[in-house]
Amino acid sequence: MIRKHATTPFEGQKPGTSGLRKKVRVFQQENYVENFIQSVFDVVERQAGATLVVGGDGRFHNRVVIQQAIRMAAANGYGRVLVGRGGILSTPAASHVIRKYGASGGLILSASHNPGGPEEDFGIKYNIANGGPAPEKVTDAIHARTLAIDHWLDVDAPDIDLEALGTVSVGGMTVEVIDPVADYAELMEQLFDFPAIRKAAADGLTMAFDAMSAVTGPYAVEILEHRLGFRQGTVRNAIPLEDFGGHHPDPNLVHARDLYDLMMDPAKAPDFGAASDGDGDRNLIIGKGRFITPSDSLAMLAANAHLAPGYADGLKGIARSMPTSAAADRVAEALGIPAYETPTGWKFFGNLLDAGMATICGEESAGTGSDHVREKDGLWAVLLWLNILAATGKSVDTLAREHWARFGRNYYARHDYEAVDSGKANALMAELEASLASLPGRAFGGLTVEAADSFAYCDPVDASVSENQGIRVMFEGGSRVVFRLSGTGTEGATLRVYLERYEPAGGNLDAPTPAMLADIIAAAEEIAGIKRHTGRSAPDVVT
Ligand code: G1P
Ligand code: ZN
Repeated sequence: MIRKHATTPFEGQKPGTSGLRKKVRVFQQENYVENFIQSVFDVVERQAGATLVVGGDGRFHNRVVIQQAIRMAAANGYGRVLVGRGGILSTPAASHVIRKYGASGGLILSASHNPGGPEEDFGIKYNIANGGPAPEKVTDAIHARTLAIDHWLDVDAPDIDLEALGTVSVGGMTVEVIDPVADYAELMEQLFDFPAIRKAAADGLTMAFDAMSAVTGPYAVEILEHRLGFRQGTVRNAIPLEDFGGHHPDPNLVHARDLYDLMMDPAKAPDFGAASDGDGDRNLIIGKGRFITPSDSLAMLAANAHLAPGYADGLKGIARSMPTSAAADRVAEALGIPAYETPTGWKFFGNLLDAGMATICGEESAGTGSDHVREKDGLWAVLLWLNILAATGKSVDTLAREHWARFGRNYYARHDYEAVDSGKANALMAELEASLASLPGRAFGGLTVEAADSFAYCDPVDASVSENQGIRVMFEGGSRVVFRLSGTGTEGATLRVYLERYEPAGGNLDAPTPAMLADIIAAAEEIAGIKRHTGRSAPDVVT
């Protein structure tokens, strides 16, 4: 019997991507997802009778793929599948479950912060036994296998009841429907001082958490409302919906606007506001009247992590993606620990975490996490913030001001130009690259270029080299602009321009960000010719 999808399911995706991310109707094609899953089962490391974790963010098509993955696992010699009730597992919770139960890996079903529904996006990726996304050598092998595969295997069995906790047998394999929240909540109780946070809540600390009708709702209700005692209703949009209520479950200032407006309203704002994305790995942090950029959040969390029991012994190192601001580096320097600058994408942190070289990592795109799992973790960041608020008794605004007064402030913004013609975007980057050598010493407005390069990373653990990870233009005084093309955009090219101005301690630490970045924005335009190449005179999204 030959049952094969006509082309590789990866068709049209960049090589090296850790899984599939496509429209639902692409996933609904015959043999499509089966080609991917069988290829995973054919190439990944696993012993006979191994355990596989399966779960997703609850978006449309989640249950269909989960039932099929269970039938295929049974036919492919797995001994046990652990699946979250209702097919639900946030990405960080899935990472934890893989690690805790010694699974050989897991299938995580999500398209992260992309919209869901019959006309929207779906995704699937494979995580390995350390709980992290499969590294490139594994994803390359999966990809190669999708080209060669000529059949896939499943057992003839009906769908299981995903709502019923407990154990059933499918084709002789054990399937355990587990509580998706319990293991994760227990881990959070180990890392953070729940009694102190509970006391702060009882003493009047208030918060709002926007689950964006996505996967973190059940986690946040259990942890924030039930275990920590924040009042009922603290978690908004708490029920995971297959279409996220028609919204983008992306916790940024555009899509979490309601939360932002609430936090900026002096009459109504609670003390602390936060949100997470579709699959629960990203976070947004806003204090009463004070937005915290993800880059600053990473730095502030690192500077105060010792206040949480799980990090009381200090940090081994701090890692940030290259476009993330250098604020965290200054904290690492003050703590006397190493700072790592990696290419964009969480997978680069995995080696550092596994090797015990870094404890906390983060990206400007609102991903923060630590060595407790091998994915970024939205609720983890929220709980570490709460632990710090409870331990210090200070407001978010006060903590931010004190941080800047000590380390200086990295004013920061990211400008995205979306759905740009790929040819034009590539031409812009090529011209920029060709001009790198001529930039040092040149002045743009009041800014003089100190250095410029195309970022390359040599992994300190396995010495693998990743080149062309974005163009960096460094100005004298610690300010910077970075240009790179998105690796996750689905339509044409997305040009990301990362703008950063460093203002040292004692300088202008409480000015509006747009004003502080104005000359860097002008320099970026002059250096890259964004308008000339793309015809765009303003970005589509500013975060
Ligand atoms: C984006 C973010 C990056 C993140 C990735 C996956 O990638 O910028 O930090 O790791 O999504 O969530 P990009 O589209 O920039 O390649
Ligand atoms: Zn996500």
